[in-house]
Amino acid sequence: MPSENQPVITSDRPARAVIVGSGSMGRWWARSIVASEVAELVGMADLDESVARAAVAQSGAEDPDSIAVGRDGVQLARDLGADILVNPTVPVAHHPVTVAALHAGIPVLGEKPVTETLPEAISLMAHTEVTGVPFMVSQSRRFFPQVRQLRAFVAEHGPAVLTSAFFSLFTEHDGFRRTQGHPMLRDMGIHAFDTARHVLGTDPVAVTAQGHRPPWSVYSHDASVTATFEMTDGSLFVYNGTWNARGLPTYWNSEWRIAGQNGTATWDGQGTPVVGTDNEDRDRELNAELSAPREAEPNQIDASLIEFVSALREGRRPLCEVHDNVLSFAMVEAAVAAVENRARVEIDELLETARQDAIAAERDDDARAVMESWGSVRAAITQAQAGAGEQVRPQV
Ligand SMILES: NC(=O)c1ccc[n+]([C@@H]2O[C@H](COP(=O)([O-])OP(=O)(O)OC[C@H]3O[C@@H](n4cnc5c(N)ncnc54)[C@H](O)[C@@H]3O)[C@@H](O)[C@H]2O)c1
Repeated sequence: MPSENQPVITSDRPARAVIVGSGSMGRWWARSIVASEVAELVGMADLDESVARAAVAQSGAEDPDSIAVGRDGVQLARDLGADILVNPTVPVAHHPVTVAALHAGIPVLGEKPVTETLPEAISLMAHTEVTGVPFMVSQSRRFFPQVRQLRAFVAEHGPAVLTSAFFSLFTEHDGFRRTQGHPMLRDMGIHAFDTARHVLGTDPVAVTAQGHRPPWSVYSHDASVTATFEMTDGSLFVYNGTWNARGLPTYWNSEWRIAGQNGTATWDGQGTPVVGTDNEDRDRELNAELSAPREAEPNQIDASLIEFVSALREGRRPLCEVHDNVLSFAMVEAAVAAVENRARVEIDELLETARQDAIAAERDDDARAVMESWGSVRAAITQAQAGAGEQVRPQV
C-alpha cells in the first residue's frame, strides 16, 4: 500500500523534474523529459556544472536559460520545489544521492544498477520504508512491447523449462566500466536478468557462473561470462554475455529462446518474437497476432518516466520499485560471487549476508531498525510486492 507520506502529483500538470548526473545517460534523460508530456525539466546537476549546462543545451528545450543548473542535485531539487529527481549518476553515487533525496521528501527515479553494492541496495529498501517516499529503478528494457508479448506468451504456454539470453557485442566503453569489477554482469547482465524475471514471472533461487578475461580485453575485469540461474519454479535461465568477441553482434537486448511446457518463443532482441507450439494452425494465428501492425508507443526511458509519474499520480507503487528491483540486482551480485568463489551461490544466503553488512554500515538509526525488524530480506520484498499495483502498459 502507498504510505501516508507518499507524495502525489496531480494529473493536471507535468511533474517538475531535476536530473542529477549529466553524462551520456543524463543527456538522454534530458531529451526524454523535454519531449515528454508527463514531466518538465526544471533543473540539471553534475559535479561539473559546465557538463550540466552542456546537457541542457542539447536537450531540445525551447528556453534552455529557464532550466537551472547546479552541482548538488538534491539541493537544486529542493530549491526548485521539484516533484521528482532522476538519478543517472555513476553507480557509486546512487546510494548517497538517493538517500538524501528520499529524506528531503523527493521521489527518485534512478538508473540501473540500483547501487554499487548489494548492502547499499538493501539500505535503500529501508530508507524508502522509513521515509515513505517512492524509489523506482529505471529498468528500461522491461518496457519494450516485445517483452510484454513474451510475458503474455509464457503466461499462456508456460511454465518455462529452459530460457537463454545471449549478448555478444564488441564494445570498448570508456569511463567507469573500464575498471568496474565484472562489467558485463554489472552493466549489461542486469538488463537481461530483470527482463527474465519479468517475462518468466519467476524469481531467482541460486546461480553458478564463470567469467573470462581474454588478453585483448580493454576491461580490467572479466567482460565475458556465463551464468545459470535456478528459478523459483524450478526452471533454468542461462545468460551468456561478452564485450570481447568480434562479428555477428546481437542487439543490445540479447537473443532469447524461452522453451516452455506448451510452447517456445524466440526473440532476436529487436524484431517481433517468433513462437511455436505443437499445433501449426495455432502457430500461424499466434505469429500473425504478434506481428500485426500496432500504434507506436513509448518504450525505454520514455516509458519508465510515464510509469513513475503515473504511479505517483495514482498513489500506487511503480513497477521496478526498489524492493522488487533488489532481486534483479541480487542476481548480478550472486553471479559475481559465483564467479569469484567458483561455487553455487544461493540468493537468500547472499541477501542475508548483505543485510548484516548493511546494518553494520547504516548511519541512520531508523533505517537500521527497519532492517533489523525484517524476518528476512526476501520476506520484506514479498511484503512490498503484495502491495504493488502493476501497470504493464504505460499510460499518460
Ligand atoms: N538504461 C540504460 O540503457 C543505460 C545505459 C547506459 C548507462 N546506464 C546507467 O546510467 C548511469 C550513468 O551512466 P553514464 O554512462 O551516463 O555515466 P557517465 O560517466 O557518462 O555520467 C555520469 C555523470 O554523473 C556525474 N556524477 C557523479 N557523481 C555525481 C554526484 N554525486 N552528483 C552529481 N553528478 C554526479 C559525473 O560527473 C558524470 O558526468 C549508470 O548507472 C549506468 O549504469 C543505463
